Amino acid sequence: MAQDVHAIIGASGQLGTEMALSLKSAGKSVVLLDLRSPSFEGIRDLPFETVDVCDAAGLSACLGDHGVTHVYHLAAALSARGEQDPQWAWNLNMKGLLNILDLAAVSDSLARVFWPSSIAVFGPGSGRLAEQTGHRLPGTVYGISKNAGEQWCAWYRRNRGVDVRSVRYPGLIGTLAPPGGGTTDYAVEVFEHIGSDEPYTCFLDENERLPMMHMDDAVRAALELMSAPRVTLKCEEAYNIQALSFSPRELFEEIERQVPGFRYRCVPDFRQDIASGWPDALDDAVARREWGWRPQVDLTGLVTSMLVARKGNIMPVPAT
Ligand code: SER
Repeated sequence: MAQDVHAIIGASGQLGTEMALSLKSAGKSVVLLDLRSPSFEGIRDLPFETVDVCDAAGLSACLGDHGVTHVYHLAAALSARGEQDPQWAWNLNMKGLLNILDLAAVSDSLARVFWPSSIAVFGPGSGRLAEQTGHRLPGTVYGISKNAGEQWCAWYRRNRGVDVRSVRYPGLIGTLAPPGGGTTDYAVEVFEHIGSDEPYTCFLDENERLPMMHMDDAVRAALELMSAPRVTLKCEEAYNIQALSFSPRELFEEIERQVPGFRYRCVPDFRQDIASGWPDALDDAVARREWGWRPQVDLTGLVTSMLVARKGNIMPVPAT
């Protein structure tokens, strides 16, 4: 039997970089697709193709040439960046997804697709603990595109037999590549600031609790969902997954505990308006029941791991 070939679209991004390293470390055959070549040295030896996910023909040729069997489609405009250019964000987020789903519907080799949704599908009215099928009235272009994307995935599953799988990611915190314009980015940025003489200036209110997740859990969630037997996956939507929830104050207090003298201040900007529409936490009972989801990294572990990575000097350069 031919070997599985995993393609990561958006491979130079925050999640794509971590996913690429994880698949490479597991000995999988991996091909990286992005418009920018990877900044992280540890994945530069993997085959890389410059492909625009909005270019259906180029995408089809690339996936065909490499005999791709599994796609992780991670390229997207995030919440804060998307609000600056709504039409661009909608086009990138929707056209990219529809191109992949169309290809998967007709391809003989492409068997399975992972596409991340987000906590941004929720909005005012979802409650502090968002249920799996909770009320959704997203307040950002990013959230609207993820909400619509979930429905497109369900449509392609039902009507075209596409095996597409999805989770609603919270803020993701890792070390290998910078995040790309999200509302939760402060929780990565702060670690770059440690050691500075100035206090870190956070763009959210200090009491704004949001769901968050360490990259190790985020990557594991995708890989476990992708290897779950299809028959056990009953949920028509992207799965709620929960790891931990914290406010800026709670994160900074843990940093201060591990790095005495760390100081911060909060000067909320437009991103606080986005954050205030999002839930504090997600109810992930369905993911736990259907494919055994369990988070592993808690707040202390997350901060320790980020500080250790920073000492190893692999913290990302901030996105401009
Ligand atoms: N991290 C994302 C953002 O802030 C949420 O999914 O946009």
